[in-house]
Amino acid sequence: MKVSVYIATTLDGFIARDNGELDWLPGSDGAVPADSENEDFGFNAFMRSIDVLVMGRKTYELVISAGVWPYGDKRVIVLSKTLPKLSDDIPNTVELRSESPGDLCDELKNSGAMHLYVDGGKTIQGFLNSGLIDEIIITRVPVLIGTGIPLFGPLNNDKCLNHIETQTYKNGFVQTKYEVVNACRQAPEPA
Ligand SMILES: NC(=O)c1ccc[n+]([C@@H]2O[C@H](COP(=O)([O-])OP(=O)(O)OC[C@H]3O[C@@H](n4cnc5c(N)ncnc54)[C@H](OP(=O)(O)O)[C@@H]3O)[C@@H](O)[C@H]2O)c1
Repeated sequence: MKVSVYIATTLDGFIARDNGELDWLPGSDGAVPADSENEDFGFNAFMRSIDVLVMGRKTYELVISAGVWPYGDKRVIVLSKTLPKLSDDIPNTVELRSESPGDLCDELKNSGAMHLYVDGGKTIQGFLNSGLIDEIIITRVPVLIGTGIPLFGPLNNDKCLNHIETQTYKNGFVQTKYEVVNACRQAPEPA
């Protein structure tokens, strides 16, 4: 089973403002950026390639705040240890779970899933630290916001990445695909 990240960041590495807002991300309000008509940055093809989307509770809360469930009948797993239940009006293809990344991946693999999409900063960091992310597709938006929710955080080990390809778009987005090579070397001991 392949596990992928597909995410947009600011040039300074943030996935959202401190308050969770995505106003820096053109198109996040549902409107197509004027200079990117008919361009979805590979997102729809990527979504067609995945069996299951796993997202953190905070990403789920942002998604439902828009009032429209955008993932159709795609299987979605929301991870949380604090959320008592999912909103009543979302499809029954969405499940609330609280397993560790390792246990969840084992179960999904055994159930025949071939391609998993992991979304949400803390959630991605958990999967990355468990050595479970195989591919990162990161779309850098040419904006600096100075502070916000970071995509990456502390790691148990260094992660080496193989650069697969980089695509540039007319609106300045730069999308890079990496293959993750887990545990390429140990991180130095803290001083
Ligand atoms: N730029 C982009 O493309 C993009 C994409 C996605 C999201 N976002 C933004 O990112 C922000 C959310 O990211 P985030 O890093 O703050 O949070 P997140 O990863 O979406 O959610 C973190 C929460 O997920 C739950 N969680 C994660 N792993 C778990 C596990 N193994 N078991 C149980 N629960 C688990 C925990 O919920 P509990 O605290 O309930 O236990 C944790 O607090 C939102 O503002 C969203 O707008 C941006």
